[in-house]
Amino acid sequence: MISVTETSAGEPLFHLRAGDASYVFSVFHGYLLHLYCGPAVGEDDLEYLLVRVGHDSVVPRPFDTSETWFSLDIAPQEIPAYGTGDYRPSALMIRHGAGGKLTPGSTAVSVRYLSHEILPGKPPIPGDIQPAVRANEDEADTLIVTAEDPASGVRFRLYYTAMRSLPVILRRTAVENASSAPLDLLRIASASLDFVSPVEPAELLHLWGTWGRERHTERTPLCHGTVSVSSRRGASSHHHNPFAALVSSRTDERSGPAVGISLIYSGNFEILADVDPFGSLRLSAGIDPTGFSWRLDPGEVFVSPEAVIAVSGEGLGKMSRALHRLFRDHLCRGKWAERSSPRPVPVNNWEATYFRFDADKLVSIAKEAADCGIDMLVMDDGWFGRRNDDRSSLGDWVVNEEKLPGGLKPLSDRIHGLGLKFGIWFEPEMISPDSDLYRAHPDWALHTEGRPLSVARNQYVIDMTRPDVRDWLFGAISAVLSSARIDYVKWDFNRNLTEAASLSLPEERQGEIFHRFVLGLYDLLGRVTAAFPDILFEGCSSGGGRFDPAMLYYSPQIWTSDDTDAMERLDIQLGTSFCYPPSSISCHVSASPNHQTGRETSFLTRGHVAMAGVFGYELDLTKLTAEEKELARKQAEESRRIWPLVRNGDFYRLILPSDTVNGKTGRCAAWMFVSEDRSEALVTFVSIRASIHPVYFLRLEGLDPDARYEIEETGEILSGSTLMNAGLNLTKNRRDGESVVIRLKKTPVREG
Ligand code: GLA
Repeated sequence: MISVTETSAGEPLFHLRAGDASYVFSVFHGYLLHLYCGPAVGEDDLEYLLVRVGHDSVVPRPFDTSETWFSLDIAPQEIPAYGTGDYRPSALMIRHGAGGKLTPGSTAVSVRYLSHEILPGKPPIPGDIQPAVRANEDEADTLIVTAEDPASGVRFRLYYTAMRSLPVILRRTAVENASSAPLDLLRIASASLDFVSPVEPAELLHLWGTWGRERHTERTPLCHGTVSVSSRRGASSHHHNPFAALVSSRTDERSGPAVGISLIYSGNFEILADVDPFGSLRLSAGIDPTGFSWRLDPGEVFVSPEAVIAVSGEGLGKMSRALHRLFRDHLCRGKWAERSSPRPVPVNNWEATYFRFDADKLVSIAKEAADCGIDMLVMDDGWFGRRNDDRSSLGDWVVNEEKLPGGLKPLSDRIHGLGLKFGIWFEPEMISPDSDLYRAHPDWALHTEGRPLSVARNQYVIDMTRPDVRDWLFGAISAVLSSARIDYVKWDFNRNLTEAASLSLPEERQGEIFHRFVLGLYDLLGRVTAAFPDILFEGCSSGGGRFDPAMLYYSPQIWTSDDTDAMERLDIQLGTSFCYPPSSISCHVSASPNHQTGRETSFLTRGHVAMAGVFGYELDLTKLTAEEKELARKQAEESRRIWPLVRNGDFYRLILPSDTVNGKTGRCAAWMFVSEDRSEALVTFVSIRASIHPVYFLRLEGLDPDARYEIEETGEILSGSTLMNAGLNLTKNRRDGESVVIRLKKTPVREG
């Protein structure tokens, strides 16, 4: 619901109600002033929040006013612009070109309200191909504010969507060069909001990592000045994620304020939190401005990626669940993303064989898979060109007939003959220096003429900004996918961009390269997924180096990390769940000792941990013992049984490995799924390191307090309120790496 009233000065005041959250801003002398974002508030004139007692005399004002608080450097804003008196981090910076009214090269800009309209649903932005949330007329309302920079004539359209049943606001900005001179956009945040009465003391929770150690949570106290996380790698990256949450130091999973901000974007991003001397707090998310510029000739429009703002007054758990619902129900597309669609349980051959496989070896694994009730064999890297290690052939998307005689079809037929689906691996955005493709088209690699090109994993990056290159890639991928029955594609991306320039772009557009690369990727992914709608796509980037909402738009699941060690995965998977739904987090049971850490973990625990997301296997099934095979059979069946709970239920983080339990950290982890109707729940507890005298009464969440639940394993019956307040008894000596899964089912209340 979006309401518009008037301020005391007769200017519009917008109140966006999204679920049980409010987002309020108003117009003051044409400036868009942010008033509130948090748990729902009344339909009041919140302009009283703007009052400040005196302020810095050195701070300029755009005009003379009796409102002593009004200076752009102090006023909370919706789209703070550079160069006209707000010295805090700006959401917008423009370099004006020659031929207009303004000094060529000058960068000041101002954003002033002109008009607004409110539409039901969420209309697409014409001409835009970027991934975005979809919502119909019953699910959301959209406010579009049109504004301009009066001096240059540049126009802005600010899009705000309020989801009706989720505490989520979506924001995007479109910049139209309605002036007569070219301009360069130097900075454009997708969302920026100033908290005039911020939670204190405030912290920024964000997800950091590296290869094999993705998305660990960190909470950083905010200070006067700026705290930021970003990627300048050409991908959303292992190192930081385009997600952060503004919290109070007292916020935990169940209580306290949290405002999550997530950017639906796969490229360079920046999320920052800035605290000014008056305690105002600016939170913003957008394309990272380092090296970025975008030329807009008169009449051209630039549309920012979409930002998601998720609000909770009841802790981080509620914020995450809102994001989970938004992404899985309103962002992921295609038949595999649907609520009722099962996902196949795969066995991937990467950790089973690496590059050393042939058709017979794959079929031997597939036979065991069929015997265990596994649904799909995925053939990973190494099936094309002369790719027997990672030193060649990316770009030569032609089957290696020494490994797979007769091409993909005979192998696919043999796999399907066993009753399994068949998937393959691709890394389309890359080119090996040792490849026929590179020898034929050296200019197809992204590079700067006259400068040596850095290699990473022996490969270069393809110039995805070029339509001709993308057309070629579409043809090459389509030819492979049409050559046999293929049910699944793992779309990998194994290095970051360097020396990024394109021979196809003029000098003034080289600053567009990183964003154009991402737009090129979206274009190609859009075409391939549309041409092959029955194929399940899984995103991947050296593990989870591009785990972001934009990739989820094309692939409803993403490979989470190349670290498949179950104990390491606890931090990675639970960290990922702060923003991303478990139904997108791809988790495989791999061999023990684990290939990355050497740690030994039981088959049972590896299964329990992998069932926290999209379940599968990544080991040589021909090497399993009879006992392990029996367990694999049960696990595959169980994972299919619980899939509706994982896909549609609510996820609760109960204990993080970093939590202190019984006076110690790093000892255990626990989480649970609860079905939408609260009739069913699945609790997982993992003992990371054994403790002497352990006492665990695990307080559950999300149950119906008045209902009675049967604990399937023991037959014991307890009420929801007891399980949530007194806790589930898990007190038992458990060894390192031992785990337990507990299933709860609502039982009818007995009469009498
Ligand atoms: C990346 C992926 C792995 C595997 C290899 C193949 O590292 O994350 O899962 O596909 O590439 O080269």
